[in-house]
Amino acid sequence: MDIAATLARILDAHRDRPGALLPVLHEVQNAVGFIPPETVPAIATALNLSRAEVHGVISYYHHFRQEPTGRHVVRVCCAEACQAVGGEVLAEHARTRLAGSDVTLEPVYCLGLCACGPAVQVDETQLHAAMTPAKFDALVARLEAER
Ligand code: FES
Repeated sequence: MDIAATLARILDAHRDRPGALLPVLHEVQNAVGFIPPETVPAIATALNLSRAEVHGVISYYHHFRQEPTGRHVVRVCCAEACQAVGGEVLAEHARTRLAGSDVTLEPVYCLGLCACGPAVQVDETQLHAAMTPAKFDALVARLEAER
């Protein structure tokens, strides 16, 4: 993919609109899969912002990735209802299990399954309720076996 051309197209569509930064970042991530660090200066210039402002917004929102993801993305819910039923232990287990894996781990803050947590999402399509460390390992093993 030609990232520069993609970025130019996105910036052309948004540069004169107020509050363009978030829509631009969403479109870049949707198109590229993450926000490449080298796009920050061009985004800042086009939107008349400082690089620090753009970087601050990227860092603030968990949604924005600063690196490419692995083959799959697994999101573990870190919001309160899931934390109360084992989400914290599950998230720690997931960090350990996925260290060095090409399955990317991301936090998410509520997947709408609060009554049957801990909740996990795979690739923004599959939802899994009542996740346990053992079920998590089985899920990851299936994802890794798909290669
Ligand atoms: S708090 Fe985890 S799904 Fe809502």
